[in-house]
Amino acid sequence: MNASHSLAESLPVAARDAIRQLRASRIREVANAGFGVPDVLPFWFGESDRVTPDFIREAANEALSRGATFYTHNLGIAGLRSVLADYVSALHGRTTMDQVAVTSAGVNALMLAAQLVVGPGDRAVAVTPLWPNVVEIPKILGARIETVSLDYGPQGWTLDVDKLLAALTPGTRLLTINSPSNPTGWVMPRDAQQAVLEHCRRHGIWILADEVYERLYYGAQRAAPSFLDLADREERIICVNSFSKSWLMTGWRLGWMVLPTALTDDLSKLIEYNTSCAPSFVQEAGVVAVRDGEVFIRSEQTRLQAARDHLVAALSGLPDVDVHAPQGAMYVFFRLSGAQDSLALCKRLVREARVGLAPGSAFGPEGEGFVRWCYACDTQRLDEGVSRLRGFLSAAD
Ligand SMILES: Cc1ncc(COP(=O)(O)O)c(C=O)c1O
Repeated sequence: MNASHSLAESLPVAARDAIRQLRASRIREVANAGFGVPDVLPFWFGESDRVTPDFIREAANEALSRGATFYTHNLGIAGLRSVLADYVSALHGRTTMDQVAVTSAGVNALMLAAQLVVGPGDRAVAVTPLWPNVVEIPKILGARIETVSLDYGPQGWTLDVDKLLAALTPGTRLLTINSPSNPTGWVMPRDAQQAVLEHCRRHGIWILADEVYERLYYGAQRAAPSFLDLADREERIICVNSFSKSWLMTGWRLGWMVLPTALTDDLSKLIEYNTSCAPSFVQEAGVVAVRDGEVFIRSEQTRLQAARDHLVAALSGLPDVDVHAPQGAMYVFFRLSGAQDSLALCKRLVREARVGLAPGSAFGPEGEGFVRWCYACDTQRLDEGVSRLRGFLSAAD
């Protein structure tokens, strides 16, 4: 054996450091603890218990039968980009199809956006508690991520805007904000968006707005306040969205982003080297979802709001629980006394009470002491879950 051979053999067979240091999902860890436990009620993942509406599934079947099985343009089929431009324009003001790109769901849009604007050593800031993917993705690219926590108090979760602005020092490359937020349901108020936008404009900081829950909003408007309402499309803002939540299409992997046209040529290259395009028959079904889905979205909003109110009322009746009604998304993120180690507690809950909740610590250290409950299901199931939780808590007293 020669010298170079033995040197190579002594190197560990391992992924690079940045990847090994990524956090593994604690939600998965709880779900894994539940394998083999019969009849667990799964409230841990962020999806509805209902299948995608018929009219969208039929559109996909029809597209498949027609032979929509080929590669498409990197940025998506023209028909989908065009209906999305109309949809975004109706909600948030004039947007053209060359400012819209189709992606393989929201998480891929987040990765592409990060690949477009952050690199090794860049400083990125995120508002937390937050869905872990948003925090981990910039790390894959070698960026440093710093977090600014929402504060928890009698009003629920709120943002101290001055604290956020102080963290957005000159030289910061990217700010990521998810509103409505997973897990807290916090919705960024319009005046806070305005202040942050002005600050980021002054310092040349990119804003990555994750607005995948914008239609799961319980305010008076059709959608939650968006950075797109305030900003010009050619500014340093990338807004990420998804078909997963509004149209119940989690398994289809379809999303989009709104971005300055100055980025689209580079985005085309990135899509080419990541996925090349979203599946063509899925994109065709997406056209029908956007074009004909408004009635469905509104009925889903009503259903979710009723489920939220039902769950919040039921949890408020438990002695060890501190709960606020979220303004958006589909989660109740509540404080549970005894959840100082929320991961351990959620593992016990799944094994001993057959209730599957997500531990607050999965969303960053600020989430410790809390648990997340996805309420996108019918009220009988929510009631059964609350009754199991009550039984567990009273046995633990
Ligand atoms: C905050 C947030 N952003 C983005 C996504 C991405 O969803 P998808 O990749 O299914 O579009 C999710 C999914 O749970 C999410 O919670």
